[in-house]
Amino acid sequence: MADIIPLKSLPEWKALEGHYEKISKLHLRDLFAADPRRGEKFTVEAAGIYFDYSKHRVTSGTVNHLCDLAEASGLREKIEDMFTGEKINLTEGRAVLHTALRAPRNATIVVDGENVVPHVHAVLEKMQQFADKVRSGHWRGHTGKAIKNIVNIGIGGSDLGPVMAYEALRHYSQRGLVFRFVSNVDGADFAEAVIDLDPAETLFIVASKTFTTQETMANAGTARDWALEALKDEAAIAKHFVAVSTNAARVAAFGIDTANMFGFWDWVGGRYSMFSAIGLSTMIAIGPKHFGEMLAGAREMDEHYRNAAFEENIPALMGLLGIWNNNFFGAQSIAVLPYEQYLKRFPAYLQQLTMESNGKRVTIDGRAVDYQTSQVYWGEPGTNGQHSFYQLIHQGTKLIPCDFIAFSKTHHKLGRHHDLLMANVFAQAEALAFGKTVEELKAEGVKDWLLPHKTFEGNRPSTTMLLDELTPAALGRLVALYEHSVFTQGMIWQVGPFDQWGVELGKALAGRIAPELEAGEEPELKHDSSTNALIRRYRAAR
Ligand code: F6P
Repeated sequence: MADIIPLKSLPEWKALEGHYEKISKLHLRDLFAADPRRGEKFTVEAAGIYFDYSKHRVTSGTVNHLCDLAEASGLREKIEDMFTGEKINLTEGRAVLHTALRAPRNATIVVDGENVVPHVHAVLEKMQQFADKVRSGHWRGHTGKAIKNIVNIGIGGSDLGPVMAYEALRHYSQRGLVFRFVSNVDGADFAEAVIDLDPAETLFIVASKTFTTQETMANAGTARDWALEALKDEAAIAKHFVAVSTNAARVAAFGIDTANMFGFWDWVGGRYSMFSAIGLSTMIAIGPKHFGEMLAGAREMDEHYRNAAFEENIPALMGLLGIWNNNFFGAQSIAVLPYEQYLKRFPAYLQQLTMESNGKRVTIDGRAVDYQTSQVYWGEPGTNGQHSFYQLIHQGTKLIPCDFIAFSKTHHKLGRHHDLLMANVFAQAEALAFGKTVEELKAEGVKDWLLPHKTFEGNRPSTTMLLDELTPAALGRLVALYEHSVFTQGMIWQVGPFDQWGVELGKALAGRIAPELEAGEEPELKHDSSTNALIRRYRAAR
């Protein structure tokens, strides 16, 4: 690997440090007052998203410096490496090609001497045929009944994307079908998911890239027992279980006919997999046509990211603004606040995408970083969050940049609801930026002793993303936007966003402890004294 110049040694980083010293005290009130066109100037419109970043603590100089940093970090070349199938996941020796999942049929993307695009489209076609059969009632269960319930069993990327997309696109879903998602190894998750379902009408999709994940294998085994208890015939498995995986041998060993397996490839990371066969439940819910529109939306964002200058490149700007707030202003988290009820699982989905990708403490060449990496992502749909944690965002001691996501059109034109919703999202961004001064409060006649309590400092940064309507294409664009923003940040922080070694230790230790909990005789416990005591207590009480 060529020597990498440490981030903080780059002249472009140092220029940003100097620039920060100059402008960090500026207030958004002054920035807006100084330039009446600021609210239009610091915006980009592309791939169906109006991206307003004027309420960030930036000047044109900041944007130039951030884009210089992106250039100096080789972001342009790294984007090309990703899109063209270079093995940029260095610790696992893999290409990173979630963008190939939405590539047009005539594209050519070569990995290990082979064009992967025809494989992608072959799987899409197989998914389409299957989805059509289930949606039309032609896929029958073992007793001849049509399938009415689809239960996706998976965890992490094999759950969060599918459940988020199902919820987001519920408006487009076939309402006669019931969708459930089981992820947690806590038996309550499975038990509650199937409590009112008839096994004869239920199809399980076992979604696991590796087909070794403990939680998913436990849930899949329980599902098989649940189905067989009612259907009483091993032959029923073929009608009631399909698999989505890269691991055909394991799928076969589990007892699922590999003819009913939908494949994907090691160049699709778990958290980047919702557009692959992992999206089978999504396709069954919304139909192949809408699934295709979702892919097309993501593709539009891919093309924008690959081609637009960084100054006008929404994912690049989003990533760079995150770095500005995180590494210079010290903001440790980002609140993702969709003003769209259907996006209620979007923050949870983003948590894995962002934090499993860039939650790293060493660079790709193994040096400990001397700067912050991934922010903590969290959030709730508006307006619920306003009556919960917004107090802290407005008047607390932490700086929390916000991503507001809103849509001009609603699927439900109910009286004033949508105007009220939109009034709230615009108001929140305005209040965060401009606050309320002592003078304004005094003019309203607020008593002196209440002034400190009622003052809003303002100067709290936010982005507002305004889209037309939450369609499948819009969801595709949004997801691809965040994927590429994560990539932008990972490349600048010099970390590897596509591995996740940090989840391994807990997995290994759980594998060691489980037999200790289940053994008849108390085994010799060799953990620390706290873990030993907890294990003993649990064994005594279970
Ligand atoms: O949590 C670690 C992880 O490997 C995630 O990256 C992945 O999405 C999840 O587990 C599930 O993995 P699999 O799809 O192989 O079951």
